[in-house]
Amino acid sequence: MTRRFDDKVMVVTGAAQGIGRLVAERAAAEGARVLIVDRSPARKDVVAAIRGARGVAEAISVNLETWAGCEKAMQKAVDLWGRIDILVNNVGGTIWAKPFEHYEPRQIDAEVRRSLFPTLYSCRAAIEHMLPRESGVIVNVSSIATRGLNRVPYAAAKGGVNAITASLAWEVAERGIRVVATAPGGTEAPPRIVPRNPNAEEEQREDWYRTIVDQTIQSSFMKRYGTLDEQAGPILFLASDDASYITGVTLPVGGGDLG
Ligand SMILES: NC(=O)c1ccc[n+]([C@@H]2O[C@H](COP(=O)([O-])OP(=O)(O)OC[C@H]3O[C@@H](n4cnc5c(N)ncnc54)[C@H](O)[C@@H]3O)[C@@H](O)[C@H]2O)c1
Repeated sequence: MTRRFDDKVMVVTGAAQGIGRLVAERAAAEGARVLIVDRSPARKDVVAAIRGARGVAEAISVNLETWAGCEKAMQKAVDLWGRIDILVNNVGGTIWAKPFEHYEPRQIDAEVRRSLFPTLYSCRAAIEHMLPRESGVIVNVSSIATRGLNRVPYAAAKGGVNAITASLAWEVAERGIRVVATAPGGTEAPPRIVPRNPNAEEEQREDWYRTIVDQTIQSSFMKRYGTLDEQAGPILFLASDDASYITGVTLPVGGGDLG
């Protein structure tokens, strides 16, 4: 086992399950002190699992769709451990899956609030702590769905995440901060404790979701979904000093699908 994150302070958003949880657990196993930011009570299970494996973790519940929530989360890491070395902006995910003409305006707003604003706000809140130290890494989690079917608002939000990655990286590169992203493809995961959309309503929703699955497999050279480990690995590589000369780019992690 490598120890790429010994003594590093890492904040992972949306880390109560899925990709974020595995990033937090693997980083802690490599020595990071990890702050789990998630509004689901399942965040406590992640802290318990990390501590059970002799790692260091704390958790905070905030609403990451608000500036106040993001600012509070970043401040919590600084209060606990004095700094933020690495921020992984993982929270996000499409809430609805359907052709664009079926989205209501309120649903478009909700998608952008879920998949763009948490990253935009958290980047802004984190650099306040990173810039004075001239050190830090931000890894954003985007999606290859920036070119995909049945999720236009989510695609737009993740396109925004790619833009934040490129533009913020340029602004802060000479001040010691790297900003990078991965764009996951379809990822197999255990059933979600927190569903993306507990009240999905339309009767065509299974067909519309099936279109996403079929398109995702079809667009991948490998014709399969990836695993959680295949997503966590590239995120941790980009977060580590192994990637010290990489900034401003979004790495597609979709079996050949470039998004
Ligand atoms: N899973 C995939 O197939 C896939 C594919 C491409 C991209 N991605 C991206 O990877 C990232 C992680 O996806 P996932 O499927 O592992 O996540 P997920 O949907 O399984 O979990 C998201 C977590 O975020 C938390 N959360 C959601 N909104 C929140 C808020 N406002 N405040 C605080 N916590 C909140 C939830 O409680 C949950 O624990 C997302 O950005 C997603 O867009 C995932």
